[in-house]
Amino acid sequence: MYKIAVIPGDGIGKEVMEATLTVLDALNLNLQYEFGEAGDECKEKTGVPLPQETIDLVKNSDACLFGAAGETAADVIVKLRQEMDLFANLRPVKSYPGSNGLFNNLDIMIVRENTEGMYVGEEEYIKDENNNVQGATAKRIITRTASKRICEYAFKYAKDNNRKKVTAVHKANVLKKTDGLFKEVFYEVAKKYEEIETEDFYVDATAMYLLTRPQSFDVIVTTNLFGDILSDEGAGLVGGLGLIPSANIGENRGLFEPVHGTAPDIAGKGLANPTAMILSAIMMLEYLGEKEAADKLDKAILKVLKESKIVTSDLGGNASTKEMAEAVKNEIN
Ligand code: NAI
Ligand code: MG
Repeated sequence: MYKIAVIPGDGIGKEVMEATLTVLDALNLNLQYEFGEAGDECKEKTGVPLPQETIDLVKNSDACLFGAAGETAADVIVKLRQEMDLFANLRPVKSYPGSNGLFNNLDIMIVRENTEGMYVGEEEYIKDENNNVQGATAKRIITRTASKRICEYAFKYAKDNNRKKVTAVHKANVLKKTDGLFKEVFYEVAKKYEEIETEDFYVDATAMYLLTRPQSFDVIVTTNLFGDILSDEGAGLVGGLGLIPSANIGENRGLFEPVHGTAPDIAGKGLANPTAMILSAIMMLEYLGEKEAADKLDKAILKVLKESKIVTSDLGGNASTKEMAEAVKNEIN
């Protein structure tokens, strides 16, 4: 039996979560769901976006499934990652059949540092003598410990998954001290993995290479903000945010969520593609060691995507979130 903390959150987070739980139920695993509140609606109701109760729920579970939080995302998901030290954020950029992506042959794993960098949340206003805001500063923290931990994770991931190359992405020419350290640590760690090819690029160049020659990437390791941006770019390469899952991994914890947010433009209409959330659940099953169930679900979703008949409108179909989930469920049965 696994205790799974389920946090649907706001907007389409709730819709794709409901769809995913239906699909998971068809696998007949012994999953015990415990629901937690977080996000904009939770803040309206309780005054806080991430109640301690929800943090405790996640801490006392075997894994967590998270939908999306709206404007409170920084106080919810960024805080959960930091609070639980979920230091590695895995964001696969993978081409799926029937996805209308720009590229149909990509399989890149972005490994994003998840606890520091630009997202430490230390911003301050610069005020003049009359207390008027004249500017603001944001702190960007890069430590040797966190850089080493994320680079080691990326190389170990590459080794365990038969990947050939790890690319470090940074901006060490301008951010000399912070990203200079990140790059230095990357090459220190690389020495232990001689069989794996290494390279490093500046983030701006990488943004272009991802468009001009994305096939040349295998595993990318990068700092928090750059990883956030490049993974959305990656989503754009393979057919949109409706298709990209992610895993947030700590020493012995895991939280799994789609890369997308609450999509206010389509929320409440049953239009959201549940694939990203379902693929996140597959990453969770793999993390829990339920390889067989993960493969079964993977096959089912792949079949539905490949047939492209019962898919949501972002994939060119006219099925609702629920209908697409039902189609996946039928494939499992
Ligand atoms: P978003 O990811 O919600 O939406 C961006 C675009 O992608 C929209 O056009 C949306 O319709 C589309 N899209 C996203 N997921 C989709 C799906 N499953 N199926 C079909 N289309 C999909 O990002 P946006 O608009 O920048 O942010 C909206 C809200 O979400 C904001 O309040 C933001 O703070 C929050 N957010 C939360 C995140 C989280 O909880 N992890 C991550 C990103 C944003
Ligand atoms: Mg993002």
